[in-house]
Amino acid sequence: MKKHFRYIPAFHFHWLTRYYDPMMRWLFPESGIKAGLIAQARLQPGQVVLDAGCGTGTLTLLIKQTEPGAAVYGLDMDFRALSIAQEKIGKAGENITLQLGSAACLPYPDKSFDRIFASLMLHHLTRQDKQLMLGEAFRVLKPGGELHVADFGAPHDAVMWLISWIVRWFEEIHDHVLGLLPVFMADAGFDPVQEMVRYRTFAGPIALYRAKKPAGNDSAVRIREKSQGCLQRG
Ligand SMILES: C[S@@+](CC[C@H](N)C(=O)[O-])C[C@H]1O[C@@H](n2cnc3c(N)ncnc32)[C@H](O)[C@@H]1O
Repeated sequence: MKKHFRYIPAFHFHWLTRYYDPMMRWLFPESGIKAGLIAQARLQPGQVVLDAGCGTGTLTLLIKQTEPGAAVYGLDMDFRALSIAQEKIGKAGENITLQLGSAACLPYPDKSFDRIFASLMLHHLTRQDKQLMLGEAFRVLKPGGELHVADFGAPHDAVMWLISWIVRWFEEIHDHVLGLLPVFMADAGFDPVQEMVRYRTFAGPIALYRAKKPAGNDSAVRIREKSQGCLQRG
């Protein structure tokens, strides 16, 4: 099994994790982005939903509160962020399963989820781990299931281009600025891959994507499922 121990925490430095929630609330259009991401997923009772890279659990909690009939799971590499999430979930009295682990090697069986969310997480992953994560999301989604991503996207106007040009070397944003995220999703087997909406923020453009795992049980999908999955790769 491939080991994934290194990761970039929520606000780049571990000591900033405790300030993540208030800073996101004050500095970022967080509530609009998260509400938009949940709305585009059209959640239904009985669905099984994963928030990959759930961090402090704001989106995870919102998913459960939006659709109480869904079974909701949150996964993150950072136990500090997860303990903040656990406290918030406990205070809200919700039943959500949190797990420590890597999004690039998901600890779930094939075809487990109807929806997977990845909010502001993929720009924390190297190109290789982004591709692994998308392959893993494809593997653990049920046929017809959907991946919903909020993350840095390609700039489409001069101001966003200028900001992107500055932030592109920060963390692992460069591929996003080049518009490669939807390409990686399509490479993992998702079809269609759609950019649903784009937000202009002080940190650069944030795009919301919807990527569907084809419902067909054809051999191309089965071959892709088999070739992906970090546990099988050894
Ligand atoms: C900017 S935070 C986003 C948190 C949350 N999804 C949100 O929208 O507020 C990015 C999160 O990704 C997590 N992360 C980084 N690499 C990861 C990996 N390989 N697997 C799972 N989580 C990871 C970090 O620990 C952090 O909590």
